Amino acid sequence: MRVRLKRFREGRFFTEELEIDVPEGSTVLDLLFRIKEEVDPTLSFRSMCRASICGTCSVKVNGEPKLACNTKVKGEEITIEPVDNARPIKDLVVDQDPLFFRLRQGLIRVEPRGEEVKVYPKDLLKTERASDCILCGICDSACPSLVEDRKFGGPSLFTKAYRILEDPRNRGLEESLRRLVDFNVQSCTHCNNCNLYCPKGCMPERWITLIEGMLLKRGYIQRKTEDFGFLGF
Ligand code: SF4
Ligand code: SF4
Ligand code: FES
Repeated sequence: MRVRLKRFREGRFFTEELEIDVPEGSTVLDLLFRIKEEVDPTLSFRSMCRASICGTCSVKVNGEPKLACNTKVKGEEITIEPVDNARPIKDLVVDQDPLFFRLRQGLIRVEPRGEEVKVYPKDLLKTERASDCILCGICDSACPSLVEDRKFGGPSLFTKAYRILEDPRNRGLEESLRRLVDFNVQSCTHCNNCNLYCPKGCMPERWITLIEGMLLKRGYIQRKTEDFGFLGF
């Protein structure tokens, strides 16, 4: 199989072409390990669990952001690149700190009530999909609004936030909502890229819409009247 690998070294990208034998059923992560073990031990990429749980192995495969560990290698050719919207560090490794910085900045966490709270299965149903988020950052890498508005929290932050907002053990709902005002929820263009590429089916755009509704209802933000000028609507 022909492998086209876009790598970042010493301030520039370059593309390397390799011919590799790939056993049937291999994942993109298996392929990367094969290259590292048999061709170039200096190749850098991230991975831990190999089971779609840790969220570290995001890369672009044939132009689409994917988890390397749950994407099967198919066909005669493959192109593997670092994900978009993130500062490249080395080869396929990008800087994921901005996402964690935004989560810390927004204090996206449960404020315990200090008393026993019963949580029923019906309560968990509301946040089932958002709870599946593994913070892989794939949705952020595919989000055009994050490029245009660096204050926008991004789909991963709002997905995480929704789970916290709807958690019956959280006594800080209003405070959490007020903090979310700074993350410009209305910068979302509802393009659905995040829903399309999320490898866990978390549907981030749906939670963004619901959070915008919560903020509007309480008067923390006003209904937006202008369009997204940068898209030329
Ligand atoms: S919402 Fe999906 S794509 Fe976004 S960080 Fe979570 S798991 Fe990854
Ligand atoms: S729907 Fe909103 S959050 Fe999702 S990728 Fe598009 S602009 Fe970004
Ligand atoms: S290695 Fe953990 S999600 Fe891919």
